Amino acid sequence: MAIHADSAQAMYEAMKKKLSRVVPEPELKIKAEVAYEVNRLKEERGAIILGHNYMEPALFHTVPDEVGDSLELARKAAMTDKNPIVFCGVRFMAETAKILNPDRLVLLPAKKAGCSLAEGITAEDVRQLRRRYPGVPIVTYINTYADVKAEVDICCTSSNAKRVVESLDSDTVIFLPDEYLATNVAKETGKTILVANKQDVYEAKPANGDMPKGIIGWTARCEVHEKYTVEDIANVRKQFPDVYVLAHPECSEEVVNAADYAGSTTQMTKHVQETNAPHYLILTECSMGDNIIADNPDKDILRLCSVRCPHMNEITLEEVLHALRHDEQAIEVPEDIRVRAKVSLERMLAVGPARD
Ligand code: 13P
Ligand code: SF4
Repeated sequence: MAIHADSAQAMYEAMKKKLSRVVPEPELKIKAEVAYEVNRLKEERGAIILGHNYMEPALFHTVPDEVGDSLELARKAAMTDKNPIVFCGVRFMAETAKILNPDRLVLLPAKKAGCSLAEGITAEDVRQLRRRYPGVPIVTYINTYADVKAEVDICCTSSNAKRVVESLDSDTVIFLPDEYLATNVAKETGKTILVANKQDVYEAKPANGDMPKGIIGWTARCEVHEKYTVEDIANVRKQFPDVYVLAHPECSEEVVNAADYAGSTTQMTKHVQETNAPHYLILTECSMGDNIIADNPDKDILRLCSVRCPHMNEITLEEVLHALRHDEQAIEVPEDIRVRAKVSLERMLAVGPARD
């Protein structure tokens, strides 16, 4: 629940109470003043702020009207009638909000805020796959740009990927662009992962012309989650044998297998809230661990984390204030691309809320 305060001093007091374990004191004072001003301006303008779970704690707990994972924020963006929409997340998320709300001003408080997955595939790559595997349904992870979404049949997020793949009812599915998520979804759906490198993608079709059965993957990876290893988990388990390990499904199959639970950012957050382990280790972006620590003072969350997403890190309270004051950076999506991308997003939204 975001902090509400009627003065900068009250904001500082409330932030200190909630965030003193995760935000240094001198920073709290400065951030409180900015957060107070953001909320004042947001109200004056009738804006809505959406915040991804990876936002830094001083932002996450003070200014968003709604927080959540990619799927929840896409749903909120589709439902809101407020204007402008300030999207505190990376570019593909703000683009998703614009695709669903073409008549609203969607602001991304950052110059670029990219994503290694979104940068790992182009619309032309998808067209080539379509030619190579005619008739095979193509799913893309929401972590892609609008022109890629425009070429595929349906989108998915980490929370509903299994359900989306199953909804296609096809022996063969192309799943783009995250190599690790594709492998983890193949396991969850009982399908074979056919390929996980670019060369093989083009060679997977047998010479006799039959379509291969299983999930055809791609080669992009999340630059944050690929850093976690099985050794990281083993080292922590040695010191804390009763630790409960959660991993995002953008981690490798080996890491997900070595963990106790895998799920989207919100699914992991809820799982910590709803369970009672002596210690937790959360293998995802660092700020989310800090946000969970702030919301769960009674739980022991181990702080192994050293991987901050550099793209999410571009969004700060100061940038949000700048965005609201100057209407920057306004997201634009060419109309022909937007219309086609919207179809694959709406198909996803129609599939259902989550994995199970
Ligand atoms: P979620 O949909 O789980 O929030 O994931 C978004 C993301 O970028 C994870 O790295
Ligand atoms: Fe992209 Fe990984 Fe950053 Fe998420 S954490 S935005 S997948 S680079």
